[in-house]
Amino acid sequence: MNKPLKMTLITVLAATAWALLAPALAADPTKSMRGADVNAADAVAETKAYLGKRPGTQPLVARTFSTQPPVIPHAVENFDEITLEENQCLSCHGPDVYKKKNSPMIGKSHLIDRDGKKLKTASASRHDCLQCHVAQVDAPLLVENAFKGDIVVPTKKMKK
Ligand code: HEC
Ligand code: HEC
Repeated sequence: MNKPLKMTLITVLAATAWALLAPALAADPTKSMRGADVNAADAVAETKAYLGKRPGTQPLVARTFSTQPPVIPHAVENFDEITLEENQCLSCHGPDVYKKKNSPMIGKSHLIDRDGKKLKTASASRHDCLQCHVAQVDAPLLVENAFKGDIVVPTKKMKK
């Protein structure tokens, strides 16, 4: 067999082998943690309903570290969206109304502006409450997790 012919034969054999093997490789059965095929386009996650009822009817959720923004134990879906002018969260949690509404007051840190000046109401940088405070859903853990916070901030018991 002359040399160029031998090379052509090897190339043809390699191409045939690849043609047979490639589909098998493409059908890699590896699954993502959510159970989807890794080659499939990302699916939109299932929408879960937030937990919690009307504010004033449930206990606070214990915090796991001292600077954790406490999570929201109550429903939030019935409230108006936070806009530039409106913030319904402050109609219960604001320093001027919280006592009357029997609600926890916004964090003291929220009453200080960037220059350290004390304010009478929430600093503008705290206006978007849901940026830090999150409502809860009952979602199973993707990965077993043994995390235990070492600081549990005592939660105030709200009057009924
Ligand atoms: C109608 C009054 C009311 C409104 C409006 C309201 N809350 Fe609350 N919130 C409460 C009360 C009362 C509690 C105490 C727990 C309970 O009973 O649900 C609470 C608890 C919380 C807590 C837990 C505090 C802690 O120390 O653990 C957070 C955080 C919170 N609310 C954030 C929000 C945010 C953000 C909004 C706006 C999207 C909001 N709340 C709107 C009354 C209200
Ligand atoms: C930049 C993040 C951030 C934003 C925005 C924010 N918070 Fe907080 N919030 C925190 C953190 C962190 C804490 C806990 C430590 C502290 O008080 O600073 C807290 C504490 C609280 C508490 C519990 C206070 C207590 O005495 O234990 C309430 C209630 C609360 N925030 C409500 C609100 C509301 C209502 C808004 C919107 C007006 C808001 N927060 C905006 C981070 C934030």
